[in-house]
Amino acid sequence: MDKLLADPMVLGGIATAVAAVVGGGFAIYRKTKKRAALIRELRMMQTMGHNRSGDPWVIGKYRVLKKLGTGGMAKVYLAANAQGNLVALKVPDPQFFQTEEHRTYFRQELSVGKKMQHPNVVRILDYADGAEGMPYIAMEYVDGVTLDKKLPRKRPVSLDFAAIILSRVSAALEYAHNMGVIHRDIKPENIMISRDGEVKVTDFGIARDLWDPPRATGDGNTFVGSPHYMSPEQISTEKVDYRTDYYSIGVLAFRLMTGYLPFEGETTLEVITRKVSQLPPPPSTYNQDIPLELEQLIRELMQREPERRPVSALPIRKIFKKFVPKSKKRHTARSGSSVAEDF
Ligand SMILES: Nc1ncnc2c1ncn2[C@@H]1O[C@H](COP(=O)(O)OP(=O)(O)OP(=O)(O)O)[C@@H](O)[C@H]1O
Ligand SMILES: [Mg+2]
Repeated sequence: MDKLLADPMVLGGIATAVAAVVGGGFAIYRKTKKRAALIRELRMMQTMGHNRSGDPWVIGKYRVLKKLGTGGMAKVYLAANAQGNLVALKVPDPQFFQTEEHRTYFRQELSVGKKMQHPNVVRILDYADGAEGMPYIAMEYVDGVTLDKKLPRKRPVSLDFAAIILSRVSAALEYAHNMGVIHRDIKPENIMISRDGEVKVTDFGIARDLWDPPRATGDGNTFVGSPHYMSPEQISTEKVDYRTDYYSIGVLAFRLMTGYLPFEGETTLEVITRKVSQLPPPPSTYNQDIPLELEQLIRELMQREPERRPVSALPIRKIFKKFVPKSKKRHTARSGSSVAEDF
């Protein structure tokens, strides 16, 4: 036995084993200490109500999981309710909810928005007017990307893809307009494509007027937001109706089928001036393969005077639908149809 212990090989082995145990123990000790410190830090941040990047942990009855994005006037978080169901939580800046009048308007708009149920409209599930705690709008979470991420620069998308997007967006408009809801901000950033290829329009019926007031400021020299997809009447802050959405879907069709915006400019002012004083160039100047019927529709949609645009979304949808490949046509009004294979 003694002889065995005296064997340098055995001794070395024991020493290594002891070192490994001690070293390992020390590593575990350090890891545990680090974990404990982290837990302490997390607890502290939880009591403070914010995480490291300053975002809240809990909003109403939702646990915030991560930030999905920041828009012009709001932040959007991925959050979960007590049952673990995921929602997209839009939190507009509380400064827009200061008076009872604002909160009443918000509740009225959202109570209509919440009734909307359509496969191409992101559902509103719940909301809070900010009287107690933070104001928020809990929406259906779309696991996917916004359309702007799918748009190549200076190149059109395929006609199939354009037709699917445009027919789905016009189906959403048709449904919403029949319920008396105008979108007012149709643009690629407000159109989502889910992982399984569904097309969904976000931000319908969310009392946009509260945090997105008329864009031109009092002196007419400054302008809030991007003017590309807005109708001329929206820019000049005239009263708008549902036909403002037709102008925007016209711009969207132009962008999808040419790769360009109808009015480009170095500055916002240049874009605005062109938009209110000129008609867009024919889309075929950029893409000669555009079917004539679609070129005519775009021209009609982008008329400066709302009276000269189509009278409802139904004929718009019907024309776009003609160009949707057979395999992607919806069989019933309710069942979705995927565009996933187009990517
Ligand atoms: N229902 C949703 N599901 C998943 N992600 C969403 C949802 N709604 C919004 N998002 C994400 O949050 C981001 C910010 O949305 P938000 O509507 O605030 O910004 P925006 O559309 O770019 O600007 P704005 O609406 O203020 O003009 C979006 O770009 C999108 O990535
Ligand atoms: Mg949006």
